[in-house]
Amino acid sequence: MLNVKKVRKDFVMLDGKHKMQGKPLIYLDNAATTFKPKVVLEAITKYHNEITANPHRGDYDLSHQASDAYEGARKTLAKFMNCEPREVIFTSGASQSLNIVAYALGENLKKGDEILLTEAEHGSNVLPWYKVAEDKGLVIKFIPLTKEGKVTVKELKSVITKRTKVMSIAHVTNVLGHVLDIKALTKEAHKHGIIVAVDGAQSVPRIKTDVKDWDIDFLSYSGHKLCAPTGTGVLYGKYEMLDKLKPLMMGGGMNTRFDTCGDYMLQKPPLKFEAGTPNVEGVMGLEAAVKYMMNLGMDNIQKQEEMLMAYAVKRLKEVKDVVIYNETATAGVLTFNIKDIFAQDVATHLNSYGIAVRAGQHCAKILLDFLKAPATVRMSVAFYNTKEEIDKFIEATKKAGDYLDAYFK
Ligand code: ALA
Repeated sequence: MLNVKKVRKDFVMLDGKHKMQGKPLIYLDNAATTFKPKVVLEAITKYHNEITANPHRGDYDLSHQASDAYEGARKTLAKFMNCEPREVIFTSGASQSLNIVAYALGENLKKGDEILLTEAEHGSNVLPWYKVAEDKGLVIKFIPLTKEGKVTVKELKSVITKRTKVMSIAHVTNVLGHVLDIKALTKEAHKHGIIVAVDGAQSVPRIKTDVKDWDIDFLSYSGHKLCAPTGTGVLYGKYEMLDKLKPLMMGGGMNTRFDTCGDYMLQKPPLKFEAGTPNVEGVMGLEAAVKYMMNLGMDNIQKQEEMLMAYAVKRLKEVKDVVIYNETATAGVLTFNIKDIFAQDVATHLNSYGIAVRAGQHCAKILLDFLKAPATVRMSVAFYNTKEEIDKFIEATKKAGDYLDAYFK
């Protein structure tokens, strides 16, 4: 069990002094980004105050220290995901990771080959594939969602053909918040020789990650939803696959030689995929965040969020005219509307109570047809939220109808 009262002391943003609209801040937009514990900020400062050198590029002590710190972070991330350090690529976020995967896999695909996505995907896992499909003549197909908005092996089987080459899906989607059985889906996909790329932006911060157990081929996620700084992210890939793929970006640090004839040789992974001076301070922050979360225990984090979700669903049902889109979801994301009130009006109303939620399409624009709603309100918890905060959110949501009345008076 997490001691949430103690955990909250680790975050400056949760010190009780922060206000929105003059009210104590209640932050329920954790699927968009999370607060950063002090240890993360300290790790960034420590790098700048004690090292500030470019890793892998200098023959002096500080640069060696930077290399050790940077490669040390890679080992921590490998432990966090259960893989080898050489399978960890540092990126700027989930979007960059997903683009690397789509570009690199797309290079080896032929006209008419099929890619499987779902209608619940975030734009970052749709648009890179649309671009590759346009360039290479690939066919994008969508695995149907169950009534609840999940994907099971049955739905997956219904769309597999001999031309299916890649399945790229979110483990937990950012609007529906169901945890898919990624291990079973991967097993089925592999039976047909399909490569499995997973968008872990919403799952990695919420559940224990084990890429070896799941046997997935690629995993993309961002640091900033994981208590780490913005501009950090990770791409995991099975080494033998990374070794064969072309990098999306070329530049310094990722080559071993090039000459005037246009010949060049690249580094082995992971450096092959890390062109340019890396975001060392960000990676230091990312490592600190991951150590912090491992120390709390990913199982404890998951349990706390599941408890908050179950409580929020139960209480949200008290709200008059509420429509909940994912009441069986467990992964910290609760999506709803209040009949006849615009989603953005609900969010603005909650803002006036000092409560932060997200409203709109949440970058998952295909999902709107499935939800049959032009926009939704999404409240998303993290392990540092409390039942008391949920209570305040519910009480304010109950008054959303009053806001509408005031608006049209
Ligand atoms: N992808 C983030 C979200 O779902 C920004 O809000």
